[in-house]
Amino acid sequence: MKLLVIGGGGREHALAWKLARSPRVKKLYAAPGNAGIAQVAECRPVGAEDLPALLALAGEIKPDLTVVGPDNPLALGIVDLFEKNGLRAFGPSASAARFEASKIFSKQFMQRHGIPTARFGNFSSSVEAKAFAASLSACVVKADGLALGKGVIICRSPEESAAAITQMMEKKIFGAAGERVIVEEFMQGEEASIHALLDGKSYRLFPSSQDNKRVGDNDTGPNTGGMGTISPVPQVSAAIMKAAEEQVLKPFLRGCAAEGIEYRGLLYPGLMLTPDGPKVLEFNARFGDPETQVLMMRLDSDLLDALEAVVDRRLADTTLRFKRDAAVCVVMASGGYPGDYAKGKPIHGLEDAAKLEGVQVFHAGTKRSDGDIVTSGGRVLGVTALGSDLKAARERAYEAAARIRFDGAHYRKDIGARALKVLASTPGWVETTA
Ligand code: AMP
Ligand code: GLY
Repeated sequence: MKLLVIGGGGREHALAWKLARSPRVKKLYAAPGNAGIAQVAECRPVGAEDLPALLALAGEIKPDLTVVGPDNPLALGIVDLFEKNGLRAFGPSASAARFEASKIFSKQFMQRHGIPTARFGNFSSSVEAKAFAASLSACVVKADGLALGKGVIICRSPEESAAAITQMMEKKIFGAAGERVIVEEFMQGEEASIHALLDGKSYRLFPSSQDNKRVGDNDTGPNTGGMGTISPVPQVSAAIMKAAEEQVLKPFLRGCAAEGIEYRGLLYPGLMLTPDGPKVLEFNARFGDPETQVLMMRLDSDLLDALEAVVDRRLADTTLRFKRDAAVCVVMASGGYPGDYAKGKPIHGLEDAAKLEGVQVFHAGTKRSDGDIVTSGGRVLGVTALGSDLKAARERAYEAAARIRFDGAHYRKDIGARALKVLASTPGWVETTA
């Protein structure tokens, strides 16, 4: 089979790497790809949001399946467009991708179908938004639309929430995405990522994973796209996984059926583990980045089989198998990220790092320049390792990261550290989803 992967980040490298191991894949293409993806796929310089150019590319290479990585092309309707042109594509339709593209749509859906989530109000008037925010002691202000993961501001006082609402609704710092906002209660707890394949009728779960979004150790500094992940997450007990299935995934599928939405693709609910049980922070309509890096390392069965089962609506006959090993991904970022950063810095030590057993270095912002691999984005690499447990995986990931150098490189030193403390105090913890 010929496959086309759309996107050019660490998530897409992990997907392409895993797809390349499928015996049925004869040829992989990627648009636009990156220097790592180029090791397993032929990269074409077409942007992931340029739908007409992607359709033309598909017309040329005639893929048997297209796998869409990022959220934007999904929200723009790439799967609808490809299907209309007789091309099979993995990912939700634009209508189903609204679960990520519109936070208001998503929150109201949860409310209609009894899916646990933070109490909220939605507003198109900044005066009303400020009044509601002032009634909550701490709150979170969220732009309705897609804002590159940046449209969420945590506010600890009415002054902070009023300032955030002014920025989004009056000064429009996120453009049209912030014309309507959600104000919701602040929830305290541990965050966890759930990933499930859905074919409209059934679901299949991946093991739990957890991202670290702040740039600095001990969750300090500004938010990023994600600085590192672990899987499994010791805080996600069997009971919590069961609650996620019963209270989130099953009502989600029932709600979609009742409202005539066919969700086929990957659903990634971000959860907050609260004392009252897991609550949904948001729904994402695609694989997480860098969650995919750890999940693909742990996936033992064939990814292509699973994605095709989703597209062809026969997930009920499919099982996903996972390695018992744990995985840890450490993101190496450009100096200055998540603020401004320089590009074009040569990356050294990639081969040395890859020599370590159980290690895969997934590329995010990299490209080839005169024979060198150089940085080309904020998040540069996802150094990922498998190990017999989290401690072993973590040691390997950090050993590999220490072998890689580029000017300005920085990474968190505490990915998985909190989980290890939890494990030390939970003897006999056994993961049950694998
Ligand atoms: P979202 O894009 O909605 O997932 O929000 C991004 C991040 O903001 C989440 O991963 C949380 O760290 C934080 N966040 C969002 N909503 C809440 C909430 N209600 N309470 C506490 N933290 C939140
Ligand atoms: N891991 C964060 C995201 O993919 O949205």
